[in-house]
Amino acid sequence: MTATQTAAVPPSLLDVLLFYVEAGCDEAIGDRPVDRTSLLPPKPAAAGGAPRPQTTPAPVTPAQVMPKPAAANPALLSAQAAESAATQLAAACHSVAELEAAIKGFTGCALKATATNTVIARGNPNAPLMIIGEAPGRDEDAQGAPFVGESGQLLDKMLKAIGRDESNVYISNVIFWRPPGNRDPSSEEILACKPFIERLIALCRPKVIACAGKFAAATLLGTTQGITRIRGRWQEYCRDDLVIPAMPLLHPAYLLRQPGVKREAWRDMLTLAAKLEEMS
Ligand code: URA
Repeated sequence: MTATQTAAVPPSLLDVLLFYVEAGCDEAIGDRPVDRTSLLPPKPAAAGGAPRPQTTPAPVTPAQVMPKPAAANPALLSAQAAESAATQLAAACHSVAELEAAIKGFTGCALKATATNTVIARGNPNAPLMIIGEAPGRDEDAQGAPFVGESGQLLDKMLKAIGRDESNVYISNVIFWRPPGNRDPSSEEILACKPFIERLIALCRPKVIACAGKFAAATLLGTTQGITRIRGRWQEYCRDDLVIPAMPLLHPAYLLRQPGVKREAWRDMLTLAAKLEEMS
């Protein structure tokens, strides 16, 4: 048999799974596989030609398999309705425990459907420093706590270097459910969660906030500048009667990918520590 005649060896199940994981598909969202190619509508017959015989049983139209629009499916709220429901729910909470229960019961963020756990916060809610990141990853989703994976371990080391641990830091995220495959959160998902993280800040009233990464900085500080530009420069988190000094930080996951910028990150941690010292 020549090289060109080599019989194609089917990939092993493990090869296929690895391919999916590398492509970012690392969650099973149903118990049974669905062959979506069999759900495609039939191709129109070629001009002038006789219609092709149908080989698949009655095709299902996209309208039958796509999620129903919000109006037809009350469980799926529009972005605006989700934000307003979250705002009302959050405003009615007068303790962190009440707020946690409200977030866990909230169904207005589509990410909840594919997440294993609702991930809210860890550490001390009365701490002077609140660190807010982006969204849970795979480890956080599995364990139900923020920043417990590799980037969380780096964050803990950085905090330890300035004398902080879970007794004097409170750690949360702007999103409470894992985006599948660790994709970026959408603006709808951010809007649906934002009233809750704002209420968490209002209930905890930290002296200083640190926003880890561009999504936290953009969501809480309204900045459109890139994180590498604004990191290490004091901003203000302003809502209602609250004005809290806020520091944008490079995200620990970015530091893991770009260890060369750890020097800047260390400088920012020292600036943070100095502010906390000054305000104590
Ligand atoms: N990255 C985040 O932004 N938050 C987490 O909780 C974990 C990783």
